[in-house]
Amino acid sequence: MNDEPMRLLLVYGGHAGGRTERLRLAAEAGIASSGPGLALVSRRALDCGPKELLAAHGVLLCTPEHFGYMSGALKDFFDRTFYPVEGHTGGRPYALVVSAGNDGTGAVRAVERIVSGYGWTAMAPPLIVVGDPDDAALQRAHDLGATLAAGLLAGIF
Ligand SMILES: Cc1cc2nc3c(=O)[nH]c(=O)nc-3n(C[C@H](O)[C@H](O)[C@H](O)COP(=O)(O)O)c2cc1C
Repeated sequence: MNDEPMRLLLVYGGHAGGRTERLRLAAEAGIASSGPGLALVSRRALDCGPKELLAAHGVLLCTPEHFGYMSGALKDFFDRTFYPVEGHTGGRPYALVVSAGNDGTGAVRAVERIVSGYGWTAMAPPLIVVGDPDDAALQRAHDLGATLAAGLLAGIF
């Protein structure tokens, strides 16, 4: 029997103390609510690389929208990891949280296009939160984290 815990990698952009961080922390609380058995590895996109990605069973991406795109930090993560992990992360379940000022769809489109190159599968529809996250938005981020964690633990994804 394999006693290795399932690992969920959370890769995030956005500035410290910002909206993406608040959503991320809510998602992390949701992941933690799934109980033991799942290891959460939460990394700033700029500090995350192929090693963490190869070790992960699922991925949660959190980014602000910048200029109709994902944050430069998340794009840099993809730029640095694509070839090193090519052919090794196909089928990984992933989910996406985007914090936006007024839109968010450009970031979603860009991320979806890139992760299709990795061969990842969406575990849930992307969560776009426009403006300051209110309680309902934070709850949605919490629930997304909890759903990902529970699904990974149950082997559903
Ligand atoms: C450089 C820059 C570019 C932005 N471009 C967009 C954009 O294209 N679309 C949008 O909806 N919001 C845009 N915004 C607003 C941010 O997406 C929004 O304020 C987000 O909630 C910031 O998240 P953060 O607090 O984690 O940094 C931009 C903000 C910055 C600083």
